[in-house]
Amino acid sequence: MATLIIGTDRVATFATACREFDPGHDIRQWPDVGRAEDIRYALAWGPPAGELAKLPNLELIVSVGAGVDHLMKDPLLPHVPVARFVDADLTGRMVSYVAANVLFHHRRMNELRAQQAAAVWKYLPEPAAHELTVGIMGLGVLGQACAQALLPLGYSLAGWSRTPKGVPDVACFAGAIGLDAFLGATDILVVLLPLTPDTRGIIDRKLLAKLRRPKLLPGPVLINAGRGGLQSEQDIVASLDAGELYAASLDVFTTEPLPPSSPVWGHERILLTPHIAAESDPRAIARYLIAQIGRKQCGEPLPNLVDRQRGY
Ligand code: NAP
Ligand code: GLV
Repeated sequence: MATLIIGTDRVATFATACREFDPGHDIRQWPDVGRAEDIRYALAWGPPAGELAKLPNLELIVSVGAGVDHLMKDPLLPHVPVARFVDADLTGRMVSYVAANVLFHHRRMNELRAQQAAAVWKYLPEPAAHELTVGIMGLGVLGQACAQALLPLGYSLAGWSRTPKGVPDVACFAGAIGLDAFLGATDILVVLLPLTPDTRGIIDRKLLAKLRRPKLLPGPVLINAGRGGLQSEQDIVASLDAGELYAASLDVFTTEPLPPSSPVWGHERILLTPHIAAESDPRAIARYLIAQIGRKQCGEPLPNLVDRQRGY
């Protein structure tokens, strides 16, 4: 009975962490699969299409990340349970990324840095936190944790999800019917949606034009830490250049790594990070993987299973 680690460029790191956590566990590192029949469990990130289908006794796939679009795109993905990675360490990292970027744009740090570079001493007007509504697209594990962290900073909060939600102190909107009202109430848009056939390309110029124009800031703000496939980078740049959007923080891109020719690299009002908002810590992954395998072996229900129909 063995576990295969596959796809990620950190195969060796995760394998070491798993062996340290559970020295008796038979861990295989792709492409050194050994006897394919031995593999019961897989820890995967973007495995080459069809590779998991070669494992005849596979019982469970655990995603290296909270998102599972990297698995769902494999047309031969075996019909076994898929668990996403849900963990306090990862959630904490996303909360700090989102809070840092909300504060950065609210306090106009981009412009203040530019003023410093030009030795300019100039007051820039800013709204108070309670005058801004942060609207979170995707009110799941990460979206709700970010909302809870932003509330004590004084922001007003709104959230949008597929199904209706009741989250204390957050104005909740749901489905296509609630989208325009959500956008019209949002000054700083935080995107924490999964990439599915329903959400692909949702962040376009038309959607961005529906955001509220905040008091005392030059325009609304976009923060996307969900997936690059949710957005049109061309539309974001056009919205910024037309003054429809004030600034953006982008952690994820339609093509990663972002090609050198992308206009996003040099845009003065985009804060670009290379998909680092919430990395999966190897020790946390090892703990989670071994716990999920333990539950599977005992026939216990597995938390955080993906609904293959919904795609997340
Ligand atoms: P989650 O708990 O599954 O939450 C997903 C949320 O999105 C839910 O509220 C869901 O609505 C909503 N949603 C899904 N499809 C929708 C649709 N068509 N219309 C409206 N709302 C929709 O996921 P999570 O753990 O919060 O993670 C969210 C995403 O963050 C991941 O999928 C991944 O892509 C991204 N992520 C990025 C990084 C990074 O480093 N950049 C790290 C971790 C995760 P319901 O509540 O109604 O189901
Ligand atoms: C990272 O992108 C994740 O999905 O956890």
